[in-house]
Amino acid sequence: MPEPQRLDTTRLQKIAQAYWESAALMAAVELEVFTAIAHRHDTIPAVAQATGISERNAERLLTVLAAMTLLTREGEHFANAADVQRFLVKDGERYAGPWILFTKPRWKAFGELSERLRDPQENRLGAYVNFTVEDARRYHAATYSIGMGAARLFSRSVDLSGRKLMLDLGGGSGAYSIVATRTFPGLKAIVLDLPPVTVVADEYISANGAAERVSTLPGDFTETAFPQGVDVVVMASNLPQYEPALIGLVVAKAFAALVPGGEMHLIGETLHDDRTGPLSAALWGLNEAIQNSTGRAHTESEVKGYLEDAGFVDVTVHPFVPGVLSRITGRKPG
Ligand SMILES: C[S@@+](CC[C@H](N)C(=O)[O-])C[C@H]1O[C@@H](n2cnc3c(N)ncnc32)[C@H](O)[C@@H]1O
Repeated sequence: MPEPQRLDTTRLQKIAQAYWESAALMAAVELEVFTAIAHRHDTIPAVAQATGISERNAERLLTVLAAMTLLTREGEHFANAADVQRFLVKDGERYAGPWILFTKPRWKAFGELSERLRDPQENRLGAYVNFTVEDARRYHAATYSIGMGAARLFSRSVDLSGRKLMLDLGGGSGAYSIVATRTFPGLKAIVLDLPPVTVVADEYISANGAAERVSTLPGDFTETAFPQGVDVVVMASNLPQYEPALIGLVVAKAFAALVPGGEMHLIGETLHDDRTGPLSAALWGLNEAIQNSTGRAHTESEVKGYLEDAGFVDVTVHPFVPGVLSRITGRKPG
């Protein structure tokens, strides 16, 4: 008979303290520790000097970062792990520091999660109520820092040759539209997003020299009339922010706006059908309690259902970033 597994509190303690790890990573990004190490300030005294903290604190932080496997250590010298070197060194082309700090403004609210869960107030727009241009600028510095990579992946995963007009719902920085119109000659795109966001999208669009191909439409995609005659609709990273009925409504509007034969792509964090994970999709759903929205995590089958209920055919689920994001696609018959 195998010994019954002895239970202890190790796992529970690790989860209870996990926010210390988040704090260490965020502090390292804010202090530009990884950038200092990439520039060969790779000992405790050198990091202390480059980041303006004491050697005692540099020792504390670097010891944790090494234990978290974000750094490797050989004697007195530290080096960045491969992903850290690629994405968290400030002058690097793939710098994603703003994305690592993206959720930090919610830190205090997550510390009050039980109170938030007891709060009965809800509103449809959640985090986006009273969103200002400045909020949008900070928010989309973060989404853009990883969005261009996702946008390149999207344009590698789909063939939009011959398509003429893409509607990018909640397009944010415009990353998907900028890259798709650059990849597929003849394709133009419209980024529909909330008014403060389109101000920021216009900045990214012109910075990428895409103003001839990508325009913006300020509005609320649950209410604003969609432009007609589009042959591609994309909605990326909006799923958990909305409840099923609202996603269904937006998908039905997209179906009506598409020409026969047009296609829709919904990209987002989805739960497995038995709702047991993945954890990231579940956490984005929980995050909506912090935002007081009516949103929640959706399963792959639910998302397929939203498309099929609207009339889409050939509805299929594609892993997009495996284990993190799926792309659910449908075609309007015609
Ligand atoms: C997480 S961001 C994703 C941005 C972009 N699709 C990407 O993947 O990089 C979600 C975007 O949806 C927009 N959004 C959310 N609700 C919206 C609504 N009701 N109408 C228009 N845009 C909305 C937000 O302003 C934000 O820009």
